[in-house]
Amino acid sequence: MTLATTRAVAVVGVRGHIVEVEADLSPGVPSFVLVGLPDASLNESRDRVRAAMVNSHQEWPPTKRRLTVNLSPASLPKRGSSFDLAIALAVLAADHVVPPGVGADVVLIGELGLDGRVRPVRGVLPAVLAASEAGIASVVVPAANADEAGLVPGMRVTGVSSLAQLIALARGEPVHLELEAATGADLDDAGGVDETDDPGRLDLSDVLGQADARAMIEVAAAGGHHLLMVGPPGAGKTMLAERLPGLLPPLDREAAIDVTAVHSVAGTLPSGSPLVTRPPFQAPHHTASVAAIVGGGSSHLRPGAASLAHRGVLFMDEAPEFAPAVLDALRQPLESGEICVSRLAAQVRFPAQFQLVLAANPCPCGMAVVRGRDCTCSPMAKLRYFGRLSGPLLDRVDLRREMRPATRRELRADRGMAETTAVVAARVLAARERMTSRLTGTPWRANAEVPGHAMRRDWPLPWDVVAAAERELDRGNLTARGVDRVLRVAWTIADLAGRDQPGSDEVAMALRYRGVERSAA
Ligand SMILES: Nc1ncnc2c1ncn2[C@@H]1O[C@H](COP(=O)(O)OP(=O)(O)O)[C@@H](O)[C@H]1O
Ligand SMILES: [Mg+2]
Ligand SMILES: [Zn+2]
Repeated sequence: MTLATTRAVAVVGVRGHIVEVEADLSPGVPSFVLVGLPDASLNESRDRVRAAMVNSHQEWPPTKRRLTVNLSPASLPKRGSSFDLAIALAVLAADHVVPPGVGADVVLIGELGLDGRVRPVRGVLPAVLAASEAGIASVVVPAANADEAGLVPGMRVTGVSSLAQLIALARGEPVHLELEAATGADLDDAGGVDETDDPGRLDLSDVLGQADARAMIEVAAAGGHHLLMVGPPGAGKTMLAERLPGLLPPLDREAAIDVTAVHSVAGTLPSGSPLVTRPPFQAPHHTASVAAIVGGGSSHLRPGAASLAHRGVLFMDEAPEFAPAVLDALRQPLESGEICVSRLAAQVRFPAQFQLVLAANPCPCGMAVVRGRDCTCSPMAKLRYFGRLSGPLLDRVDLRREMRPATRRELRADRGMAETTAVVAARVLAARERMTSRLTGTPWRANAEVPGHAMRRDWPLPWDVVAAAERELDRGNLTARGVDRVLRVAWTIADLAGRDQPGSDEVAMALRYRGVERSAA
């Protein structure tokens, strides 16, 4: 009996788990059995490995014996094609084609083509992170994924492009590797923040006039507040939403790795410079399914738009048109910052901490606030339309604003007058710094995350400052939660102004950003 072991990684959600791959060759009728809870796509690994071996001039079946490959732990669901390399090397080691101990300190990730080529796979970053956490210092990955694997500090990465190359490497023969050993340490020096991308492609200075709306988007960016914009078609809602990510600070190293891991699993990483350093932007269409938003899929669980927007912006244009089940499904991530999908025996978690931007027409026909044009909607239809944005969802939205289209005079104004994204982003960054130093030692990073009770307890404001908001409460124009939201926004306005705490002016301004309280709460 001959036995050899290698290691691969099973990625569940965005977390990798080390899997031992054991190949056993024993006397008997030639056969190839794969055990240890493989799914259908993994079972096809047998065919790929067999064909790749034959096309790489290896004898098959190995010395005409019974081959069993066992993946453990058996309880872990294993899917996909990324186990091919580990399986192939284990078989070769069991057969003594390569030294039997060769797979001991290395993790192998990669799919084999029938011709013996090594093909790129999804989820390389989380897989290599798992290897690193397990104390493994060396990984073999598809050459096309070497940059991504290289994001993990201190990891020795070998990118291979064919099974023949892997065999030569394992035998210690000289190999020419096109993409050799990118080590994470080099990339780490760069701080993980690349500010060269997205230079003014969608600049805030494109938005003419609309002083109020521009100020509001700045407040949203600074405090991380969710935002609802209500206005007729052409008011500039989409324009503003698309410019929000540009105002947000770049992702720090940890966030960049988290975001990159999600996009790695989804297969949406740009090749070349795989680290995502800017807050992502996702704008799913209103016909999107629940699975498209929160994640799903029949065999592979893929992250949805809410997870792809992790640490960035999820923009839902024409929000009331989304299926009620979709809007309902957003409650969980808004509450916990993650999405939990149960599938068969497994529970899969995807991170989903996003800034929500909702846009809506004022009524189903969209014309309700455009002067001189008639709205054809019945009062009932209007109520039903906004009723779809349920209380629990809107409860979390601090900023709600009615927008009118820019006037003709505003649109004629000199484009050079409007502040650019760079100018506003600098103020946002300064406000964030004030915020984070105040919030040091708390679990919160931005004002939008601070619960109302904590805000009242830890940062009380003088009664005369709160008075204006309290008055609206007494008049029935604000709920108690509405008051909390107004104060949260007032804090952000103060942070933007470089003030130690909000005064009556900031509260008054925050109240103005609640213009649609009555129609949409
Ligand atoms: N304030 C503005 N400044 C410059 N162009 C604007 C402005 N508002 C609207 N536009 C023009 O109108 C178009 C429609 O705006 P959009 O953001 O799609 O509106 P909405 O999403 O509210 O329907 C934009 O592409 C832009 O060309
Ligand atoms: Mg639009
Ligand atoms: Zn209408």
